Amino acid sequence: TKIAVFASGSGSNFEAIAQACRSGELLAEIVVVITDRPAAYVIERAKKMNIPVAAYEAKAFRSKEAFEKAIVERLADDGVEWLVLAGYMRLIGPTLLNAFPSRIVNIHPSLLPAFPGKDAIGQAIAHGVKVTGVTVHLVDEGMDTGPILAQQAVAVVHNDLEKTAQSIHEVEHVLYKETLQQLFKPIYTTSESQK
Ligand code: GRF
Repeated sequence: TKIAVFASGSGSNFEAIAQACRSGELLAEIVVVITDRPAAYVIERAKKMNIPVAAYEAKAFRSKEAFEKAIVERLADDGVEWLVLAGYMRLIGPTLLNAFPSRIVNIHPSLLPAFPGKDAIGQAIAHGVKVTGVTVHLVDEGMDTGPILAQQAVAVVHNDLEKTAQSIHEVEHVLYKETLQQLFKPIYTTSESQK
């Protein structure tokens, strides 16, 4: 399965997925990393692993549509089948959604539908919940709203954003690759089950 990872930041989830592809645990190939931030640390991580990066700055385009069209062209050239969002801080628009219908996956650091949007871990701590978690879901036109594929609970470390974030990231790095592997697995039908 040929995938593109979209990231705007540190890229620890990108790296976990890339390692799983390399070890054969995840039967997929990251053909390109797409970033909207030319200074994102994910670029260093990708370079170290010899994975191509394409950076697109939204402000260099006249519209969101033009920005996404340029990305879609690159993805088509590379034969990309699935988009994997890993800390991509931009809402996916109709151009990308229509090019990859039900083929875009995201990971979010909360038990959705609780705490969508930015700073989900901070929101959970501010709210005083004792348990938060991680959600992997398909992307639709909303913000963190698409069909849920997998969730795992993580205990909040009382008033400690850093420690809670660390546990969340550890869970993310395992849950994402496992969920993607399930998603990409071919479905075999036997002649018996077709009767
Ligand atoms: C993760 O917590 C992910 O759930 C959220 O953004 C963060 C990205 O972290 N969408 P990293 O860049 O993969 O380290």
